[in-house]
Amino acid sequence: MSTPTATAEVSMDAIVALCKRRGFIFQSSEIYGGLNGFFDYGPLGVELKKNIRDCWWNDMVRRRDDIVGLESSIIMHPKVWEASGHVAGFTDPLVDCKVSKQRYRADQLFFAAVIVDGQTVGYVSALESENTAGELQEKAETFKRKKAIQGQLAPVVAKDMTEAKPEEIALIPSPATGEPGSLTPPRSFNMMFETYVGALRDASAISYLRPETAQGMFVDFKNVVDTGRVKLPFGIAQIGKSFRNEITPRNFIFRSREFEQMEMEYFIHEDADWDKCHKDWIEWCRQWLLSIGLPESHLSLYSHPKEKLAFYSKGTVDIMFKYPFGVQELWGIAARGNYDLEQHAKHSGVPQVIFDEATKKKFTPHVIEPAVGVDRILLAVLCAGYAEEEVKDEKGNVEKRTVLRLSPRIAPVKVAVLPLLKNKPELVAIAQKLHAKLKRKYAVFYDEGGNIGRRYRRQDEIGTPWCVTIDFETIEKPGATFTLRERDSMQQKRITEAELFALLEEQVY
Ligand code: GAP
Repeated sequence: MSTPTATAEVSMDAIVALCKRRGFIFQSSEIYGGLNGFFDYGPLGVELKKNIRDCWWNDMVRRRDDIVGLESSIIMHPKVWEASGHVAGFTDPLVDCKVSKQRYRADQLFFAAVIVDGQTVGYVSALESENTAGELQEKAETFKRKKAIQGQLAPVVAKDMTEAKPEEIALIPSPATGEPGSLTPPRSFNMMFETYVGALRDASAISYLRPETAQGMFVDFKNVVDTGRVKLPFGIAQIGKSFRNEITPRNFIFRSREFEQMEMEYFIHEDADWDKCHKDWIEWCRQWLLSIGLPESHLSLYSHPKEKLAFYSKGTVDIMFKYPFGVQELWGIAARGNYDLEQHAKHSGVPQVIFDEATKKKFTPHVIEPAVGVDRILLAVLCAGYAEEEVKDEKGNVEKRTVLRLSPRIAPVKVAVLPLLKNKPELVAIAQKLHAKLKRKYAVFYDEGGNIGRRYRRQDEIGTPWCVTIDFETIEKPGATFTLRERDSMQQKRITEAELFALLEEQVY
């Protein structure tokens, strides 16, 4: 086999098609037409997701001495969300198109005045994209041409709908119809899903599906301090589902309405060097993403501008990932001061303090919060790992292969066990024995159907790092070796059972 060559840039269509074809991810309730913003993870998807969670939990909690775990309930006392500010402020600005009934997030709907010879002659609009300004410029040129307006067109200045003046709203065309007059002014839309607890369906029974897991850690802070033998600095970590009624769920599982978060609240002394701690956590998170196979070239950092931070926030940095649809937030690392604990102390009446042995005084710890979505990581590893390649077989024939270059740490199947021929009982017996032994510890797959090349391709497409073939050399030559075929290089070599287990031990952790 020759060195593979990539054939094209990765497209989201190709990722979505692979996810459906190979059972990673399905649209929720598909047979009823689907439910926008909700997804189901199929047999390979659950394995991949579980591996991402397990790697995070092992590295974040089990392999550290300063972080403990928590699993808090999804529905919490409604006062939690008043204290946290979510009831009043967890909103997105929403714009409706009264004609098409489409809804837009105002900060994702852009417009620009078309200015010719210093005069505003109309407006154009576009949804946020990689090239919003370019698209608006093109639309402005088309507008001028169609209306046969003479004069010098000024370069457009893109603004989002939250910046539109009241008198401009009626003049901005809806992206759905292309005509002005149907867009509403932006209004606040609370993204929490409401439900009722108990038999009564009145205002007193209203509660919420949590929009983040973080509040569980703050509300249980005293419980953990009183029972967990923890000392500052220490963290409480949680993995679990969160729910947000997103106005525009999009980009497959990137922004959905039900998703999973992995969050950690790292509590530090009020006088600690929060800036250093913040930077240390940003680097820890970056290194962790590299450890599960994301390429450094796809990662970047974005510091939120000071003027856009909440008043209590000392700083937020996002680790960004280059998805096929643009560079987007993957992991937020926020320095939140002591705002959350103070809010819960105020609303519950229960002090959220720690006793400082050195000063003999009580104080409220500050917190650094790395918060990431499991689904966003999963999408990132699929996008970074996916490739369509042209490879040459032994006879020099060019063929196509789709490959998912997933790290062995997270690959849903670690090894495929393949007897060369299914009608040779001596090969099958050894293969089945090896399969049984491997599956006590690892996710492995046994496949005896079809020619060996096709079986390799099937495994390439689901990201299996290694295939082990039991062939005639296994039984005929001393040493009982198998053929180990490596996914990325497609190189083959002989390996003993002990060497195979050693390889797995080293690479799957
Ligand atoms: N406790 C802080 C917090 O929840 P966030 O930036 O709103 O902060 C943290 O969310 C992470 O959760 C994001 O960086 C992203 O990875 C993930 N996330 C947020 N909203 C999401 C959505 N609608 N769908 C998928 N993942 C989401």
